[in-house]
Amino acid sequence: MNSNRLRSLPHLLLALLLTFAGAQQATAQDASANTATVSKAGVTPGATAGATPATAAAPAAGGADAAAVQAGDALFKANCTQCHAINEQVVGPALAGISKRRPITWIIPWIKNSAKVVASGDEYAVALYNKFQKQQMPSFGLSDKEITSIVAYITAQEGQPAAAATGGVTAQNAGATDGAAAAGDADTGAGKYVDILLIALVVVLIVMVVTLIIIGNLMKDVLRGRKDLDGRDTEILEQRFDWGKFYRSPVLRGIVGAVFAIVLLYEGVQSVMAVGLTQGYQPTQPIAFSHKLHAGENQINCAYCHTSVYKGKSANIPSANICMNCHSQIKTESPEIKKIYRAIERKQPVQWVRIHNLPDLAYFNHSQHTQVAGLQCQTCHGPIQNMEVVYQYSALTMGWCINCHRETPLNTKGNAYYDNLVKLHDTKNAAAPFTVSSNGGTECSKCHY
Ligand code: HEC
Ligand code: HEC
Ligand code: HEC
Ligand code: HEC
Ligand code: HEC
Ligand code: HEC
Repeated sequence: MNSNRLRSLPHLLLALLLTFAGAQQATAQDASANTATVSKAGVTPGATAGATPATAAAPAAGGADAAAVQAGDALFKANCTQCHAINEQVVGPALAGISKRRPITWIIPWIKNSAKVVASGDEYAVALYNKFQKQQMPSFGLSDKEITSIVAYITAQEGQPAAAATGGVTAQNAGATDGAAAAGDADTGAGKYVDILLIALVVVLIVMVVTLIIIGNLMKDVLRGRKDLDGRDTEILEQRFDWGKFYRSPVLRGIVGAVFAIVLLYEGVQSVMAVGLTQGYQPTQPIAFSHKLHAGENQINCAYCHTSVYKGKSANIPSANICMNCHSQIKTESPEIKKIYRAIERKQPVQWVRIHNLPDLAYFNHSQHTQVAGLQCQTCHGPIQNMEVVYQYSALTMGWCINCHRETPLNTKGNAYYDNLVKLHDTKNAAAPFTVSSNGGTECSKCHY
């Protein structure tokens, strides 16, 4: 009888622990369910159930419908993230609040062909274009519906907690736009509440465990003082946790072994996938040359230094002579500039460290992309004009080249060479745009010798 009660003591402890753990989880789930409802409400303020995608095309693009937001997410990531973020300026402006700033009737023609909107003399467009140093945003062969879904995605993102993490600017943006800000605040408020609750529960749990251990020890002491215990009872009473047995248990070894194997496998796969990838590579250069200073603040044209970028295969790294056009006069006493003089005196080129480097098996031609296709340098090289030290912005993998060729429409307007090809394409598949890949841009031999 006694022994029964004794044996059930550890069980009682375990049951208590489990109850508490369960309660804690349930509360956390409740709280997160709350959060979810809050943020959903934030995304679709006053959205009527059953709103069709067609009504979303109306100026109230904020009335987002989940499918449109999802489609917009994919489209935005595929086409816009090179130059835009929601809450911060990248190459182009931050897009938060765009649906309030511009009507959808402006946004659609802008994304289809921003140059045309600027050329039409639209006041807002011209001012924006000048503000961004006359960088032209590329044209996109997207449908009205696709553009509307991108705007819906942007509007949905404005109220997201991830955005709130970027701090005051974001909060201001959201505040200026709509009630999403309030939802966002409630959101983070709920998050804090959950944190405090969890901490409180953990503290309570620890106190409980300590109390139970003390009670357990007290009970043991009382029992030890009793005379009527038989041999088996004392055995249970003096039982200690057998660590040796615990270590040797096959279950524990199995679990540890499995975790170890999974971590090893994951790391292995990660490092194998990254072989040959040099995205983000940012070597220290022999002279502290800054693109931010030259191409950004002083607005020196890229082609002033990279002389063959519109004419030839390679972009060309400038020789010291080009630096001397200015630095025979400017900052002549700077130790960094003296390095240029020393290179010239020694008749040796400056040993710049090469950053971008495709393997020899691939053929890439700059003029085809800059002159013919009219792509911005930033599309592939990122915000060079803000880089103190240049780094490799794109992955430069084959998938990267191919993806762009699949998605980018060819610039065929006013080019008679393409007329017959476009006609042929349209008779076969008029719905799909005439992309680089429709013109054979994904054939192996185009890129591989
Ligand atoms: C190669 C860079 C680049 C890409 C890619 C790009 N944009 Fe832009 N975008 C810009 C620049 C630069 C501006 C500023 C206006 C200018 O200089 O022409 C701009 C302006 C805008 C504006 C006006 C913003 C405002 O504050 O009024 C909108 C809207 C916009 N872009 C949407 C998009 C969308 C949507 C996509 C993707 C489909 C996209 N952009 C892709 C560079 C880009
Ligand atoms: C005043 C001259 C000058 C101007 C203007 C200039 N660059 Fe450069 N660029 C250099 C020099 C020198 C290097 C080599 C040192 C380095 O990487 O910083 C370089 C390196 C680069 C690289 C990396 C090359 C490699 O090793 O793979 C890229 C990409 C690049 N420039 C793009 C641009 C773009 C885009 C612009 C215009 C927005 C521009 N540059 C404007 C001088 C210039
Ligand atoms: C079109 C003119 C022009 C050309 C070409 C040019 N620079 Fe400059 N450079 C400038 C100007 C302007 C500054 C800023 C001077 C200042 O801060 O007062 C500058 C500053 C610098 C500085 C910073 C000096 C310091 O100590 O603050 C370095 C380093 C530099 N240039 C290197 C180069 C190199 C290397 C080249 C050739 C690849 C080059 N520049 C080509 C105009 C030029
Ligand atoms: C379609 C993408 C794309 C565009 C647009 C682009 N580049 Fe490049 N750039 C590359 C790739 C890929 C390489 C690596 C080439 C190689 O290793 O053969 C490269 C290399 C370079 C280099 C290193 C020297 C060389 O030629 O290998 C410079 C400098 C450079 N680019 C400057 C520019 C400038 C300036 C512009 C805009 C006028 C520009 N690029 C536009 C993809 C692009
Ligand atoms: C940002 C988009 C973009 C990226 C990235 C890009 N390209 Fe292109 N590429 C184009 C466009 C647009 C054209 C079509 C130019 C024209 O009008 O002929 C093109 C054309 C070409 C052509 C000529 C195709 C033909 O049919 O004659 C070759 C070859 C090529 N690219 C190679 C590459 C390689 C190699 C890479 C990767 C290192 C690459 N491209 C990355 C956009 C891109
Ligand atoms: C738009 C240009 C382009 C086209 C089209 C293209 N490739 Fe590539 N390919 C590349 C580039 C760039 C690389 C180098 C990528 C890297 O270094 O990660 C590459 C790498 C490869 C490699 C890997 C070589 C190595 O050393 O790892 C193989 C294999 C390959 N391509 C085969 C093909 C085949 C087969 C086709 C036709 C179905 C094809 N490629 C079409 C651009 C292209």
